[in-house]
Amino acid sequence: MIEAMKVIVTKNDLQSLSADLLLLPFSSVELKTEVEKALSAMGFGLQVLKDFKAEAGELVVLYGGGHEYSTARIALLGIGEGKTIEDWRKAAVAFASKAVDLNIEKVAVDCSGIEAISVSTGQSVSTLVAALVEGCFTGSYRFDCLKSGKLDKKSSADKSKGIAKLLLRVDSAVADEAEKGVVDGKIIGSCQKMARDMVNLPGNHLHAGDIAKAAVDSGKKYGYDVTVFHKKEIEAFGMGGLLAVNKGSHHPPTFTVLEYKPKGKANAVIALVGKGVTFDSGGISLKPSENMGEMKSDMSGAASVLGAVEAAVRLALPLHIIGFIPATDNMPGSTAQQPGDVITTYSGITVEVGNTDAEGRLILADALSYAKEKFSPDVIIDVATLTGACIVALGYAVAGLFSNSDKLADEIFQAGQQSGEKVWRMPLWDLYGEQIKSDVADVNNTGGRGAGSVTAAKFLEKFIDGHKNWAHIDIAGPSFTPKGAGKVNGGTGFGVGLLVEFLKKWS
Ligand code: BES
Ligand code: MN
Ligand code: ZN
Repeated sequence: MIEAMKVIVTKNDLQSLSADLLLLPFSSVELKTEVEKALSAMGFGLQVLKDFKAEAGELVVLYGGGHEYSTARIALLGIGEGKTIEDWRKAAVAFASKAVDLNIEKVAVDCSGIEAISVSTGQSVSTLVAALVEGCFTGSYRFDCLKSGKLDKKSSADKSKGIAKLLLRVDSAVADEAEKGVVDGKIIGSCQKMARDMVNLPGNHLHAGDIAKAAVDSGKKYGYDVTVFHKKEIEAFGMGGLLAVNKGSHHPPTFTVLEYKPKGKANAVIALVGKGVTFDSGGISLKPSENMGEMKSDMSGAASVLGAVEAAVRLALPLHIIGFIPATDNMPGSTAQQPGDVITTYSGITVEVGNTDAEGRLILADALSYAKEKFSPDVIIDVATLTGACIVALGYAVAGLFSNSDKLADEIFQAGQQSGEKVWRMPLWDLYGEQIKSDVADVNNTGGRGAGSVTAAKFLEKFIDGHKNWAHIDIAGPSFTPKGAGKVNGGTGFGVGLLVEFLKKWS
């Protein structure tokens, strides 16, 4: 399957490559001359040019022809104007998706022109190759581990197994750089895949303990420390936020701390905090039933933190990185917390629970205070599917960014531009704090109708104990694509690419 995708950089002639599909990338700029030349040389007619415009991700599969290529099919792949990494990435996702649909296992890509694309995009060859490999993981991703196949008409032999082998044909001058890109792309692609799988697992297949176990497994495999705190310890810590949200649940909460220290000197200490609500029913403030199932994705922040930490370890980044994952589901029931309750968080700050559906901020409050107190990190970033209001503001493709540091905000924004996981900054002005004042406790967990994603961020800000370099990323929109809202349905792994890009800049 895809985890085992072999990526091979080769300098051999295109003609000699053995694959089920050979892709020839073209930009719309070179369309006329270059494509014509290529088509003629391979013995194809020029009719296909009537339709092929080389838009990013556009793909035309050609059969027949009078050529001497060893591949079963040849395809023209559009990369747009060839000026942005975004178009390049889009092309990779498109061909990988097509390859899976056609049940093709061996794919070759002609990257002979990658130096020119490197110049026109201003990206290094290794970055382009990494994006290509990563896009291949993205496009060929399918979540089918819960399908038994018992009702399928196709025999299992006819079913697509994903891309097993990817051949990249490059000129020798850039082969080493391409190899480096392959390593990076495989690491980021596989960590994104891990995050997507976790997001897609429904509430009955993924409980708090399973998130902790996934972290422990990753730590064992890649050699970093993972500590799981169980309910007793969480009680001893006084993590009243996490415990309050867990009150209605049959499954105990976990608080997982992942810690990676590089071999040499660490350039910075970075804390990453991820919301791990395995299913958010809203609790006593029950959500409407329509689409409630999508709330299996409410642990997407946790998944991206786990994915990013694992990727950082595998990339051996020179940073001390600590991941914090508070996890529980949010259920109603006779033992559940009630609206109006007042709880005491890890920091000692008391919270009036105006709405039990504003649970993410309660568990993050504990984790943020803990991270700040125990590790004094240089940077704290939390990632959370925190508010529906953020989807209203920015839609399903872009995350909301909140930060008390202009410099940090800019760094995360740039990481978004580079990784393709876009963020847009929202305000944190003190005037919004008015909305979360409480008559009976230090703060209320809800702030009324207006500016819901901002008041949520203002709430979190109270728990970082004056830390000067904090950012909150609300991924409620881009973490999960509801049916019909985008090309892929379900978990996206959003955050892994963004965080890794950010961490690389700090390395
Ligand atoms: N997990 C939700 C936010 C969410 C909504 C994520 C839709 C992804 C898609 C969060 O816990 C929540 O319920 N937030 C409430 C806050 C409100 C009660 C103040 C919301 O957004 O409505
Ligand atoms: Mn909620
Ligand atoms: Zn939630």
